[in-house]
Amino acid sequence: MQRPERALIVGYGSAIPRKVLTNADLEKLVDTSDEWIRTRTGIERRHIAEDGTTTLTLAIEAARNALNDAGMTPEELDMIILGTLTPEIGFPSTACLLQDAIGAKNAASFDFNAACSGFIYGLQLADALIKNGTHRNILLIGAETLSRIVNWKDRNTCVLFGDAAGAAVLSRNPGPDSDRGIIDTFTRSDGYQPEVLCRIAGGTRLVASPEENYIQMAGRGVFKRAVTAMGDAAELILERQGYTSDDVDLLIPHQANVRIIEATAKRIGLPMEKVYVNIQEYGNTSSATIPVCLAEAKRDGSLKPGQLVVMVAFGAGMTWGSALMRV
Ligand code: ACO
Repeated sequence: MQRPERALIVGYGSAIPRKVLTNADLEKLVDTSDEWIRTRTGIERRHIAEDGTTTLTLAIEAARNALNDAGMTPEELDMIILGTLTPEIGFPSTACLLQDAIGAKNAASFDFNAACSGFIYGLQLADALIKNGTHRNILLIGAETLSRIVNWKDRNTCVLFGDAAGAAVLSRNPGPDSDRGIIDTFTRSDGYQPEVLCRIAGGTRLVASPEENYIQMAGRGVFKRAVTAMGDAAELILERQGYTSDDVDLLIPHQANVRIIEATAKRIGLPMEKVYVNIQEYGNTSSATIPVCLAEAKRDGSLKPGQLVVMVAFGAGMTWGSALMRV
């Protein structure tokens, strides 16, 4: 039996605000140190949206870059899926605003929120839509301006986050003989303790509240769950497709903490040379981390056709997941 054609990422793009906030800058805002931030998280800098830069403007730039990379016009898109926990406005969706801005007049568009696991969740959905034959070209975006919901007086959280957008264009794989494309995806969630990582205000329970309008996190508990869930998810996707770490060319993990990344690599027995890390430059940009890594890895030559790549993420919800693809 002929297997269904795979969905293949044919274009990668990213958008990074120019303004840089270093650990030294943060030392002037809260009681912290460059040494603490670097050794506990691996972060050295993060990029922060200037006035006038928003989730939408970053998404537009990332989308255009990905379409250019794919050699595709916006009219060829039939779906735009945008993961964010910092939408442009309450509603309509940031994806619809983006659709208009780039002129993707033949696409359906919607937002979803799976926090830092957004790209993996979106990849699963885009892959399914392409495989079942209803869609041909899908733009998947993770876009965030977390700096707007960070409490700049809270050292437990403000040192961790940054702003960015990353985008990927998925299309039907060029032919049934090629094994390139998304091989498998895995997602899970556990909403039992939302308070360990949340923003209470901004929804219908509390429309506005100065005290609870910010990201709140019980870091140590989140850290432990992230290490277990990311390790499990990476291991599961390799095992169920019959691969071992020796087959893997590149691991692209969510960039929340370099110690979580190292633990995930160790769990599946992968040396750090095969792990893509750019947290030192951007911090945690939630749904944008993995697509920004992909776009950078393509530009710097780390991502090449034929490679086997594992992606893995963990975030608020809690949500987590993994994906396996042949580039
Ligand atoms: N500077 C200096 N000291 C600090 C800072 C800081 N910026 N932040 C916390 N501390 C202090 C704490 O107050 C604590 O002091 P105490 O011992 O006197 O109470 C001490 O440092 C150690 O705190 P821990 O929480 O144990 O530090 P830990 O080693 O766990 O690192 C961190 C904290 C970096 C937040 C880590 O727990 C982490 O990365 N957690 C996971 C983050 C994550 O994965 N998030 C998921 C995705 S995010 C999303 O979905 C939006």
